[in-house]
Amino acid sequence: MCGIVGYVGPRSSVEVLLGGLRRLEYRGYDSAGVSLISNDGRLETRKRAGKLDRLVEAIAEHPLDVAHIGIGHTRWATHGAPTDGNAHPHLGGAEQKLSLIHNGIIENFSELKAELLAAGTRFASETDSEVAAHLVAAEYQKSGDLIAAFRSVVNRLHGAFTILVIHQDQPDLVLAARRNAPLVVGLGDGENFLGSDVAAFVEHTKRAISVGQDEIVILRADGVTIEDFAGNPSPHEEFTVDWDASAASKGGWPSFMAKEIADQPQSVGDTLMGRLDSTGAVVLDELAPISDVVANADRIIFVACGTAAYAAEVGKYAFEKWARIVVSVELSHEFRYRDPILTPNTLVVAVSQSGETMDTLMATRYAKEAGCQVLAICNTQGATLARESDAVLYTHAGPEVAVASTKAFTAQIAAMHLLALHMAGIRKALPEAAANQIGRELLKLPAKVTEVLASAGSMAELGKSFGDAKSVLFLGRNVGYPIALEGALKLKEIAYIHAEGFAAGELKHGPIALVEQGQPVIVIVPSPADSDSLHPKVISNIQEIRARGAKVIAIAEVGDGLVSQFAEHVFYVPQIQPMLASILNVIPLQIFAMALANAKGLDVDQPRNLAKSVTVE
Ligand code: F6R
Repeated sequence: MCGIVGYVGPRSSVEVLLGGLRRLEYRGYDSAGVSLISNDGRLETRKRAGKLDRLVEAIAEHPLDVAHIGIGHTRWATHGAPTDGNAHPHLGGAEQKLSLIHNGIIENFSELKAELLAAGTRFASETDSEVAAHLVAAEYQKSGDLIAAFRSVVNRLHGAFTILVIHQDQPDLVLAARRNAPLVVGLGDGENFLGSDVAAFVEHTKRAISVGQDEIVILRADGVTIEDFAGNPSPHEEFTVDWDASAASKGGWPSFMAKEIADQPQSVGDTLMGRLDSTGAVVLDELAPISDVVANADRIIFVACGTAAYAAEVGKYAFEKWARIVVSVELSHEFRYRDPILTPNTLVVAVSQSGETMDTLMATRYAKEAGCQVLAICNTQGATLARESDAVLYTHAGPEVAVASTKAFTAQIAAMHLLALHMAGIRKALPEAAANQIGRELLKLPAKVTEVLASAGSMAELGKSFGDAKSVLFLGRNVGYPIALEGALKLKEIAYIHAEGFAAGELKHGPIALVEQGQPVIVIVPSPADSDSLHPKVISNIQEIRARGAKVIAIAEVGDGLVSQFAEHVFYVPQIQPMLASILNVIPLQIFAMALANAKGLDVDQPRNLAKSVTVE
């Protein structure tokens, strides 16, 4: 939550900052602001409640002077309402020569604020962040050493923070500190950048450093120094960002969500690429650091939140069926408070698009402290989760900007399938020929996703026609159940419609009471070829709800001759190995939710109250 960007170098800093904020706006959009030090040495700040466009308007009304250093922030409100006054940056000291931005929560802010109030400090906002601005300004006034002042203050803060500071007296210096909130450095030629993630600067440089826990960055145009909170140098390796800058722009699509849904043939394909040989055998070299636990695991625990947890739920079916291993899926925020039973043979797999979800990071740390090895399935290079895990299986979905996850979800499922097949091989749970056959089916997915997208217009039309719906139910069985949950989540998130996903078999145990005349129900129908004969059971479930007035929209496989007799609308997806159908089945649900939200005139990329990266617990 909250996006942070910093810059020092020859370019116009306001342009770099606004460009970075535009790419980080998915992190929070309650307010936005920038501070910079103009070429004639003045600290200038503009900030506004609301989306970034409001800040852009404010700058157009009151232009900023030319500057080559600055910091920018886009906010997801925690302390204090989303007002102009609570927007970042916050100014520190009576002379207001220092500017600070913050992502996170300063847990001991009340006692620090009391101390400042007693010393006569006047506050301009209700935020916890302003406390840090005044503290650094006061320390600097005493010592005249900005770096030492900054270091002493960050050592006093408790909680989660990424903090950036600039000071009018030091017009070549940006300081940053990180604890439990993300921060990445972008290395340029005669210029350097800071960002909450690489999207902030990927259009300018692909050389990056991921800043570690409790570290301070001293950023100048001609160099970057990283220290720990005690002031000791902290060596870092740089990495090359593999995202294409254009991937983080809309590229002519009406929304990021539309673009990201359409990206899925590529994002699924890129996630599979290089990990399946021509025979269909899985090759996952990135698991080498945890090969022991992968070989000897007697149990897998997935930790994840939201959509990522639903991807893990899909994965669970594959792991159990193919690799014959016990799997549980835990919501990260529940996991560590349950005193879970963990042994050295428990493989913990943390699934996260951003790699910055605080709940999942805390679950990972908990598992590591308990002696488990952690594998991350992560989409973001340089993310904290990737740094802190023992091995990383990257999904190669590219930057996902729309708040509602789409392409990251299908890429996560693809990665799960690879991992499940790999473990099936190691555990000799599937004959090699059968495993390779599934591997070859996996390779067909990108083309089949393209087919789904090509015929998705009918689902969009349907979505539009449900603009007045008050509630939509989703049903699925087996691997279709988590897809029902994900379909419901998409609708809640972006269309603000009550939606619930149910296991179709659970219907008669209660939820069927919700069904009345005209109730829309979307049903994921398994393949008639499914050897577990779930198809007739789902058809029976459809008949049960139809008998009670439900309006049924079925997602079914091409060639299913039965389903159209029982559903008002059927959207057909191509045939594929039943376990792999989830990737194809979810796409019409994404399109349905987006079309419905668009019909209601809602912003599908930035739904209310949400932020993409939930970096507070
Ligand atoms: C829903 C959505 C969220 C995220 C969840 C975890 O569309 O995007 O539910 O899936 O907040 O985020 P990551 O995967 O970044 O850990």
